[in-house]
Formats: sequence, structure tokens, C-alpha cells
Amino acid sequence: MEKLTQYISQHKDRFLDELIELLKIPSISADSAYKTDVLKTADAVKTRLEKAGCDKVEICQTDGYPIVYGEKIINKKLPTILVYGHYDVQPPDPINLWHSPPFEPVIKNTEKHPEGAIFARGACDDKGQMYMHVKAMEFMSSTNQLPCNVKFMIEGEEEVGSVNLGTFVKNNHEKLKNDVILISDTGMIANDVPSITTGLRGLSYVEVEVTGPNRDLHSGLYGGAVANPINILSKMIASLHDENNHITIPGFYDQVEELSEAERAEMAKAPFSLENYKKALDIDAVYGESGYSTNERNSIRPTLDVNGIWGGYTGEGAKTVIASKAYAKISMRLVPNQDWENITKLFKTHFENIAPKGVKVKVTPHHGGQGYVTPIDSIGYQAASKAYQHTFGKTPLPQRSGGSIPIVSLFEKELKSKTILMGFGLDSDAIHSPNEHFGVWNYLKGIETIPLFYKHFTELSK
Ligand code: BES
Ligand code: MN
Ligand code: MN
Repeated sequence: MEKLTQYISQHKDRFLDELIELLKIPSISADSAYKTDVLKTADAVKTRLEKAGCDKVEICQTDGYPIVYGEKIINKKLPTILVYGHYDVQPPDPINLWHSPPFEPVIKNTEKHPEGAIFARGACDDKGQMYMHVKAMEFMSSTNQLPCNVKFMIEGEEEVGSVNLGTFVKNNHEKLKNDVILISDTGMIANDVPSITTGLRGLSYVEVEVTGPNRDLHSGLYGGAVANPINILSKMIASLHDENNHITIPGFYDQVEELSEAERAEMAKAPFSLENYKKALDIDAVYGESGYSTNERNSIRPTLDVNGIWGGYTGEGAKTVIASKAYAKISMRLVPNQDWENITKLFKTHFENIAPKGVKVKVTPHHGGQGYVTPIDSIGYQAASKAYQHTFGKTPLPQRSGGSIPIVSLFEKELKSKTILMGFGLDSDAIHSPNEHFGVWNYLKGIETIPLFYKHFTELSK
């Protein structure tokens, strides 16, 4: 495309400044104390989309946080790309582990990002990646090179399960009609190993509560004579995996798609160093399901993990007590074909079944979604591959990711279109963790690659 790299190098400081301004607003969707900031971020996104050249931009109200919708329709006969992203971010906790405040972005060099990385909550997930699309749009629109129609749908509830987006999509088929959905909310293998995400895992998230006696008890007077909910909960959780780290819930694996040896061999070709992986995490060994490699364990296999566990006395010093209740939050990452609602039911039945006499168990489902796989012979994938070949000088590898964007399978069901996941983050960018960051090089590379996707997608659609 004419003057693409020139435009980026000319405007890169402004591109960074604008992103930094957006990152300063703490749009934490999970915490209602930040409601005003989340709404302010939606307004900011609206303004940026208008400035980038969208003809119609609106804030669409939902029962929760609004969806920012923008479009530029240049010719109804041309294909339409629907860009999805999210402007909300994860809570920054634990705050004391950040080297600089999460909502005061700074640029620092790292080993993986010698050209600098922006440190802030949301830098990579997903404000930075979402904003690449806004800047790519600015380039195409201001230089009269937008080759097709474009629609933007940027939501504010992704990090809390996209609870209201489903309804919005169901009620707006015509408005959201498109030929392909484009999302940058995933990662790639390495800056010199570009990859396109071809799969996402599904998710079932539940909370469990174990109740023993009707009040907290003296652990000397009652200890040994009644069920201790924390002991019981620990035992129940431990029993959810067997000695091979297989999940023991009956029926859990029934729908799991088994990859052929050929597909597994293809996956194993992606460069990966177990030594570096362990070193980066300060662990002396990896751990997981027998019979599968690390990369298989974290992408094509389902998992069950405790995300949080609490109960009893956790303050300073010691208190001798048997708590009345114990709790845990548990996530199950699912693979394509596993139905998240069915898995939630299987979990609930099993967890209730394994509770011993003397305790009561309550299982509360939170949210979930289906996994996703996309074929690599589609026009969308081919267009993305060509775009990467141009900007990275290499053919990108298809890669299945372990993360989840549950709304993607709903897009396919409701809008009947495929999603292309062009993620530019690295696994080491610490999304959801303290010190989240996004490489400056990655940010600019994304802005450079996106317009070429538009170009190739339009050409391949002819
Ligand atoms: N952007 C992530 C998902 C992601 C990250 C997918 C990296 C692949 C690679 C998204 O914002 C996210 O955090 N999703 C949640 C699920 C959601 C229902 C809260 C997740 O994966 O935990
Ligand atoms: Mn995200
Ligand atoms: Mn996220």
C-alpha cells in the first residue's frame, strides 16, 4: 500500500501518545467503583473512531457497559470487515507487584522488547491491540486507500464474560452483517516467529461453597469430631485429577476432539524451548497431563484449575478455628466440541456426589463459552497470511491458543462468519498479571499489517 511504512514512522509518536492517554483511564469492568471511568473510555473510543474516519459512530446502550459501534460503508458491493475488540481491562491487583503504577503508562526496554514496551494495565489486553485497528483505519481513510467497508464493535464487558454482547449481536444481525470478523486480542509465538491464532479454548467458570458446622468452632474443642470444610474442600479438589493428571469428572472427555498424529506432528514444528519456558517462570519442571507436550497441554487439551481458594483465618498470627465455610473459584478450559453448559452440569453433579456426609456443597456457575477453531484454507486466513508475509517477511504459522474469547463462537453461530485472530502480543507480555506490557515494535507492526489484510481480503473476495 502506498506510503504505509512512511505514514507510520511519521506519526508513530502520536500513535503512542494517543494510546498512552487511553491507558490512563482505569476501565476496570469487574469493579463497579470504576463505572465512570469505564463509561469515559467508551466515549474516548467513540471520539477516536470518528477522528479515524468512521462516518457513523454510536454508543449502544446495553444492560451493562455500552458497546461502541462505528462504520464506514464505501460501497455496498464491496466486502465488509467487522473489527471486534474490548476497551475494558482486568483489575490490576496485586498492585504492590507493579514496578510502576498500572494506570500511569511508561515505556521501558525489556529483553523481549529491545525497542521498548508500554507498561500499563490493558496495554496488550486489549486497548493496545484494539487501538492498532483504529490507527490502521486512520491511515487507510486519510490516504483514501480503504479498499472495502468496515464496521467496528468495541465492547466494555469482555473481561467479565461479555454478558450483554450476546443479546446485542442477536438483536442486530443486519447492522453487524459482514464477510469476515477481525480480532486482535490474542498473541503470536515470537517477534521473529509470526503466527495466526486458529483456535481458542472454551471456558466454564464455577464457584463452590462447602459448609460444615453452622458457626466457626474452637479447633481444640471440636477438632477431629466434625468435618472441617477447608480440609474437605481441599480433598475434593485434589480428587478432581488422577495420578496422570487426567480430570476425573465422569463424561468430561466424551466430546474432546483427538488430534491425528499428523496434526500433532505439525503442531510440534513450532519453535519452542522448554528450557527457556522454565527459566522465564522460575520453575524446575513443567507439570501436566501425561502423554502430552507443554504446547499441547496449554492449547488442545482441556484443563481444570483452582483460581482462588479461601476460608477460615488468614490474618496475622494464629487463630485456632474450624471455619464454618470454605470456598473456591474453579475454571475449566475446554476444547472445541465440548459444550460448556454440559460440562458445567457434569461438574456440578460430580462435585455434589463426592461430598462426604457432614458437609453441604453448593456449586454456582459463573459464565462460560464455547471454544473455536478456524480453518486455514479460508479467504480470511489466506489474506492474513499474505499480510504477515509482507510485513514480517515470513509465512506465519497457524497456532491454537489456550485462552478464551467466548463470543467468537457466538459470532459464527449468529452472524455466520469466520473470525480471523491476528494477535500481536507475546505470552510474556503479562496480560492479567502485574506489569502487563505491549511491545512498541508489536504495536507498530500491527498497524502496518492490518491495512494489508484489508487489501488482500478485498482482492481475494473478488
Ligand atoms: N484477550 C484475552 C484472551 C486471550 C489472550 C486469548 C491471549 C488468547 C491469547 C481475553 O481478554 C481474556 O482474558 N479472556 C478470558 C475469558 C473471559 C470470559 C473473561 C480468559 O481467557 O480468561
Ligand atoms: Mn482480551
Ligand atoms: Mn483479558
